[in-house]
Amino acid sequence: MKPTNEFTWRRHYETVRKRSLMLAEPLSSEDCGAQSMPDASPVKWHLAHTTWFFETFILEPMEAQFAPFHPAFRVLFNSYYNGIGERHPRAQRGLLTRPSLQEVRAYRANVDQRIARLLAEHADDEALAALIELGLQHEQQHQELILTDVKHMLAQNALYPTYSSASPAAPDTPPAAGWVDFAGALTEIGHDGDGFCFDNELPRHRQYVLPFALAARLVTNAEYLEFIDAGGYRDPALWLSEGWDQVCALSLAHPLYWRRDAHGSWHEFTLHGMGPLAPDLPAVHLSLYEANAYAHWRGARLPTEAEWELAARGADRGLHQMFGHCWQWTSSSYSPYPGYATAPGALGEYNGKFMLNQYVLRGSSKATPPGHARASYRNFFPAGARWQFTGIRLAK
Ligand code: AVJ
Ligand code: FE
Repeated sequence: MKPTNEFTWRRHYETVRKRSLMLAEPLSSEDCGAQSMPDASPVKWHLAHTTWFFETFILEPMEAQFAPFHPAFRVLFNSYYNGIGERHPRAQRGLLTRPSLQEVRAYRANVDQRIARLLAEHADDEALAALIELGLQHEQQHQELILTDVKHMLAQNALYPTYSSASPAAPDTPPAAGWVDFAGALTEIGHDGDGFCFDNELPRHRQYVLPFALAARLVTNAEYLEFIDAGGYRDPALWLSEGWDQVCALSLAHPLYWRRDAHGSWHEFTLHGMGPLAPDLPAVHLSLYEANAYAHWRGARLPTEAEWELAARGADRGLHQMFGHCWQWTSSSYSPYPGYATAPGALGEYNGKFMLNQYVLRGSSKATPPGHARASYRNFFPAGARWQFTGIRLAK
């Protein structure tokens, strides 16, 4: 659905913005200020940065009498836009005891009011609508990051605090394992239609794909445990060189949030706290290195992004868990599609400048906001990243 007028935009804006505050609801203000590692940000920072995005890219160019809510926020909550200017160092976001969470809430409320006013004054302005949509899609990306970053922060604490007091959904019996075959094809990948997409999904272009098969479902915890028990983390022959370096440097022997108790049984930390490992759930928090070693051990490989997208677009052919469980590593480098062009100005830094030394993930996770992902969506992280909800779909 593409909302078209002032009121649908306003409703859409309010819904997405409220959801960010809702995600912070179970947290104390101490929780919201902590930063567990340079890759992760405090919740307070996410709440402010998503607001800064609307203030900087919409209010500043469009408000008649623009004055910043606070001039220093331009630096504090600028993530990585050199075109905007100076940035507070990423690794030191956890040092920002000021502004308080209360002040960040006030910042949000102020920008929300001003955006509402702008929407009223510029009803039917398509350029404004497109920027609002980008701002909301950006905020949804940060909603997922809030959950992965909170999880990482809580996992550092031997109390293993519970984020969500709701009891975890009883895992469904996993769909049957097996392979789904696809014929080779000269296919097209990339976004089509008139719904929203990020610039990295464009332009749609042809790709020649050889015959392949995709696993009907994701790799489960029980299956990943077989790899561990078979000595997967001790056999350098299974690993890419960089992956083996990481295994050795960090003494890796299991996925990020798994713990083995004194009796040898496996537990996993989730947003519901520490609990017994659920054998039938998809294995998550795996790096591309781990995914690749596992695939190697099974005599399989990871899909390319073109294979994944071709499969996801096909009518239902027995593929399960493509969306809503975990992001699936592909063997494809995060590179520009042929003919890719960045937007002019600082917003051109949104995706394009990260197209080096990262890999594409497809699908979506259980932390992805509803309706956010699609078949052409390109998520991306460096090969060693483990704190996102990332898992494995095999190909051959
Ligand atoms: C697409 C998740 C890799 O984390 O930097 C947030 C999302 N882009 N703000 C990231 C994003 C700008 C992006 N990822
Ligand atoms: Fe951002």
